[in-house]
Amino acid sequence: MRNTILNLEESKIREVANAGIGRSDVLAFWFGESDEVTPDFIRQAAIDSLHHGETFYAHNLGLPYLREGLARAMSLKHPQHNGGTAIGADRIAVTSGGVSALMLAVQAIVDPGDEVVAVTPVWPNLTAQALIMGGQLRTVSLQPKAGAWTLDLDALLAAITPATKLLIVNAPNNPTGWTLAPDEQRAILAHCRKTGTWILADEVYENLYYEPTAQACAPSFLDHSEPEDRLVVVHSFSKSYLMTGWRLGWLVMPPSMTAAMGKLIEFNTSCASTFVQRAGIAALERADEVTPRVVQHLKACRDALVPALQALPGVELASPKGGMYAFFKVPLPDDSLTIAKRLVQEAGLGLAPGNAFAPEANGWLRWCFASKDIARLHQGVERLESWLERAK
Ligand SMILES: Cc1ncc(COP(=O)(O)O)c(C=O)c1O
Repeated sequence: MRNTILNLEESKIREVANAGIGRSDVLAFWFGESDEVTPDFIRQAAIDSLHHGETFYAHNLGLPYLREGLARAMSLKHPQHNGGTAIGADRIAVTSGGVSALMLAVQAIVDPGDEVVAVTPVWPNLTAQALIMGGQLRTVSLQPKAGAWTLDLDALLAAITPATKLLIVNAPNNPTGWTLAPDEQRAILAHCRKTGTWILADEVYENLYYEPTAQACAPSFLDHSEPEDRLVVVHSFSKSYLMTGWRLGWLVMPPSMTAAMGKLIEFNTSCASTFVQRAGIAALERADEVTPRVVQHLKACRDALVPALQALPGVELASPKGGMYAFFKVPLPDDSLTIAKRLVQEAGLGLAPGNAFAPEANGWLRWCFASKDIARLHQGVERLESWLERAK
């Protein structure tokens, strides 16, 4: 077996969850998903598709109708793209989840030995994928300032040179909630045009954005780019439509990449399942019934959890503008993994350890606040508070 694979770090989030999964006395907020089931009409679309016998292989790049719907939706979200030009369906590939879209992009771009720069802390899958492809990973860390993680733009630009094949950036960010400002996106894009660097923008949390904006979404690289920019933007049905288990995502790429992407999909998954894509079409067609409600509820969750955490002595965090996570520092000297494991055992509280996302996030914990019942969040804070009292 390849040493690269043998040496991949196991997920520290799983390590914590394995210690408490299935235990009814543990309040679990460790994974990045809502505890609310997919809306009925979306599930019904998949059931209808199966009833109609749609059990066969589908087009590599996705059902044309879904690709067109996604292109239309992306164009509406990003009317500034290329001076107001619509995003064509020829630039969309439907994938088996956002994670597969990310992997496909990395496979398409990174040769063994290529330099890859990633902004961290970040969801560990993103950095693992570059390593799996044999990339030489360099990281540029966000800096915590009064509980908020912020980007040193000059440091990032200095790290991206003509030797950098790919920049990986996830904003709104899992775990920190950090978001890129439009000016920063413009500066990064301009710099990468000069160095010939590809940008892999993980924007799966674009709709989970709590600042008022015209398009109700976070700033995107698509707002500033042209079709042939070396840019791949990754999206997912998971978070905005409560569809984590369905494995459905998509990517937006330059038109010149589409044929190669079709080949890569053939050799990875061949296609996303048709009945799952039918569910995606239903979700997209009635997006207004789902996503605004999801976002409104998540905002209520955030606004309940963050001030309650901020009120705990020594706990440091800022309210995230986007995403579904509160990322906070606890006033203890131990490493995050130890703290998270102790919280499961001693407090019945399941959180993700910060060092799962970057070594520099040691001492931090991630709390997914996508909880249907807001009272569960308050209950969790009570458990944390009394445990911190005892652990001091
Ligand atoms: C930053 C980020 N990107 C991508 C994904 C992938 O989502 P999925 O594969 O469920 O579409 C996740 C899931 O947690 C994520 O946090």
